[in-house]
Amino acid sequence: MSEQKVALVTGAARGIGLATAQDFAAQGWQVLMLDRDAEELGRVVSDVPGAVALDCDISDADAVASVFNGIDRLDCLVNNAGVAQFGPIEQCDFALWRSVMATNLDGTFLCSQAALPLLKASRGNIVNIASISGLRASTLRVAYGTSKAAVIQMTKQQAAELGEFGVRANCVCPGPVRTKLAMAVHSQDIIDAYHDAVPLNRYGSEAEIANAITFLASEKASYITGQILAADGGFDSTGVGLPALRGKGAA
Ligand SMILES: NC(=O)c1ccc[n+]([C@@H]2O[C@H](COP(=O)([O-])OP(=O)(O)OC[C@H]3O[C@@H](n4cnc5c(N)ncnc54)[C@H](O)[C@@H]3O)[C@@H](O)[C@H]2O)c1
Repeated sequence: MSEQKVALVTGAARGIGLATAQDFAAQGWQVLMLDRDAEELGRVVSDVPGAVALDCDISDADAVASVFNGIDRLDCLVNNAGVAQFGPIEQCDFALWRSVMATNLDGTFLCSQAALPLLKASRGNIVNIASISGLRASTLRVAYGTSKAAVIQMTKQQAAELGEFGVRANCVCPGPVRTKLAMAVHSQDIIDAYHDAVPLNRYGSEAEIANAITFLASEKASYITGQILAADGGFDSTGVGLPALRGKGAA
């Protein structure tokens, strides 16, 4: 077996997933880039040295099984593919609820389960991507926030059950990043509210989230499992009053 480690990143055609694929490749890993947007994936795969494109919708159990059947080594699975729909609870109809759960929750479950034989063989690890919306509730996110809170709990379930096989499972909760997903749902009001609520007073970058993901995937995190790491500029740790106090620290 070659010494080169292999990572599979879902939702790798753009945004945080693409940055994660690039970071793994820069660290010498081979990357399997999975996405349901085959066209976009085809455009970017050659930018990631040695990467392989996998066209798959992670909410489709048969498609997931067939993709994982074709893989012979896996050291890290990054469950990053996600969708966001924001709206009031009364307007979140069942079809919309199901479409969010189908990718964010079902897809994460399906890929993790399909990857298990490979991860047990390599004593590899899983990095799930949840969100600060899974840690703290806010308006309009009944489906999205609930799906991400479930991903956080799934991470703990995985860590509890897979530790005896040497398989670790951790979770990264990104704060706001200006990706296509975020910009589709972040109105100007939401953008302003994030600036007010984030101690570092800015959005994060795709690369900053990727750094947290590849750290948890690496040997440097070999005794870390079941952890939920917010890469969020301090949002999760902060309560009310931040804007009112800003700039008055020296007084
Ligand atoms: N951008 C943010 O502010 C932010 C904040 C918190 C959490 N996140 C999470 O980070 C992850 C990546 O988000 P992003 O902002 O880079 O989004 P993005 O929309 O830029 O990229 C998501 C990628 O996932 C793919 N995808 C979606 N559903 C899929 C499916 N069913 N099967 C296969 N591929 C699928 C899309 O085609 C796309 O390429 C998501 O899980 C998201 O919830 C993002």
